[in-house]
Amino acid sequence: MRKIAVLNQKGGVGKTTTVVNIAAAMAAHGFRVLVIDLDPQAHLTIHLGVDAEQPGCGAYQILSGQAGVHDAAVKVRSNLWILGAGIELVGAETELVNEVGREIILRQAIAQVENDFDYMIIDCPPSLGLLTLNALAASEEVIIPVQPHFLALQGFSRLLQTIALVNNRINPALHVTAILMCMFDARTSLSAEVRQDIEKFLTGSRNQNSPWAGAQIVPVHIRRNIKLAEAPSYGKSIFEYEPSCHGAADYLAVAEFVHTGKIEGNFDIQLDTASEPAVEAAEAQPASDTTVPTAPADNVPVETPAPSETSPDVENTVVETAYSNSPASPDTQEGK
Ligand SMILES: Nc1ncnc2c1ncn2[C@@H]1O[C@H](COP(=O)(O)OP(=O)(O)OP(=O)(O)O)[C@@H](O)[C@H]1O
Ligand SMILES: [Mg+2]
Repeated sequence: MRKIAVLNQKGGVGKTTTVVNIAAAMAAHGFRVLVIDLDPQAHLTIHLGVDAEQPGCGAYQILSGQAGVHDAAVKVRSNLWILGAGIELVGAETELVNEVGREIILRQAIAQVENDFDYMIIDCPPSLGLLTLNALAASEEVIIPVQPHFLALQGFSRLLQTIALVNNRINPALHVTAILMCMFDARTSLSAEVRQDIEKFLTGSRNQNSPWAGAQIVPVHIRRNIKLAEAPSYGKSIFEYEPSCHGAADYLAVAEFVHTGKIEGNFDIQLDTASEPAVEAAEAQPASDTTVPTAPADNVPVETPAPSETSPDVENTVVETAYSNSPASPDTQEGK
């Protein structure tokens, strides 16, 4: 099982959007995927159409030792399970403060299901507290989404220090694999400047023995796309909500990159047949669960994207096209 934490302690940079859509692409490609919502805001849970107000929901059950992964996970799509964030997660950091081994509770629970999933992807809260430490202790890879705006890299060194500390003390397998530029706007020179700054930093780190020495900037950027901002309120991934938009093409390319380390446009996906996302209790053995059958005749094939980076001019054109269909201005979609 590949174990990935999607982390940046800055708020609103695209973590949840990235987890939802990479996980959805992986699941629709045929991998068994477990996503974990460690953010008490429960955006991932809500985005996948699960009721976050429901007591006894997911991740908290694991952290408080009340349940194992198979009991607490909920199946939300074919091949896709979630350990959701319920209301109780808000108090989890305080409750766990006196627990011995509090940073590795999630890791121990995940070890029990090592062979039952192909991917575990964790959505971290925008902080570097105990929930994030649990995510880093349970993962081997970190993907850092970055929104290229003023002060984008402020706090970056603290983030890397935290990763280095966890790597050094409790999880030597942990390393940063990728930095993903989200809400990229090729019309602004700032986007290109932030990317250059990160590139320069990574180049300078190559020969160091740090957990980010092998990190790469994902060669496809997630462009600003209003459909990505609209999809959460429908409880849908971008592939279910608007499979032909740029957001879907970008995230499909990122999923291919995460899986293969390159982008060739070969990452085909097949969506569930049900028009409404299926939410059902997890069976004892997710790996063998076939309760959401796929019927190829009704499946929606999604076009694979053009490989990798487009030139700035091309990006400008497509971003403007995306917005020209939208009643809202790009700025209103930035969220927090
Ligand atoms: N590429 C994009 N284009 C337009 N809007 C986007 C894009 N990516 C994300 N958004 C929107 O931006 C907002 C922040 O994104 P998201 O929730 O994924 O960030 P986050 O890092 O998880 O935030 P938080 O730190 O609060 O958990 C959301 O409203 C989301 O729908
Ligand atoms: Mg989030």
